[in-house]
Amino acid sequence: MRIGVFDSGAGGLSVVKSLLEHQLFDEIIYYGDTARVPYGTKDKNTIIRYSLEALEFFNNFDIDLLITACNTVSAYALNEMREASHYDVIGVIEPGIRAVENKIDDKDARLLITGTRATIASQRYQKELKDIGYTNITALQTGLFVPIVEESIFDGSLLDEAMQHYFKDISAPNAVILGCTHFPLISDSIKRYFDDKPIMIHSGEAIVEYLQERYSLTSTNKPSNLKIYASDNVDGLRSIASNWLSE
Ligand code: DGL
Repeated sequence: MRIGVFDSGAGGLSVVKSLLEHQLFDEIIYYGDTARVPYGTKDKNTIIRYSLEALEFFNNFDIDLLITACNTVSAYALNEMREASHYDVIGVIEPGIRAVENKIDDKDARLLITGTRATIASQRYQKELKDIGYTNITALQTGLFVPIVEESIFDGSLLDEAMQHYFKDISAPNAVILGCTHFPLISDSIKRYFDDKPIMIHSGEAIVEYLQERYSLTSTNKPSNLKIYASDNVDGLRSIASNWLSE
């Protein structure tokens, strides 16, 4: 199987990392819209337009499935992308919600959703979690984590300050939903901030479980061939990939 992975920039590599670990596909074509990142600060119509334009890139490849690793795209543009493609398009929000359901039995557990401004404003996570009965949901826009991770800062004082800024009034959650491609890279630091207590919900792992269930996928037992493309500075993206994918 040859699949596409689309993200607004580099962050979707956190999802690619999980896909590579499980060797589910023969080939992964990654496209990051690095010329126009970030999407998380943009309006709905712009996010939809950019996402549909990204489909044109994938027309160059005969893909069987497209994963939108970007939470912001998953929150706004999935239906439009599905209507415009002849292959399945899967986002990260539904797998994330399923992962919460699988891991958290207590419907009154304190859930903390983190994400970009657009993802949190879309209310997608909040609504879907409420619909399946969760009662204690806090959603926080934590957009500052995006450039911090892009600088390959995964711990230390700058990140500590940003966490303090966002989390100082939050009572310790039972689970943290990492609702942004970049946040799995600082998952350990966020967990540590909350005394190592919360369960961390990671889109990459959630999507692997979802794909295994939905498509009955098993390991090909050989490394997937990864090809990385970008709308700007592809060398920069490839160097981030060699850094992040080896972390
Ligand atoms: N990929 C985005 C997301 O997961 C984060 C970066 C951006 O704002 O474009 O929401």
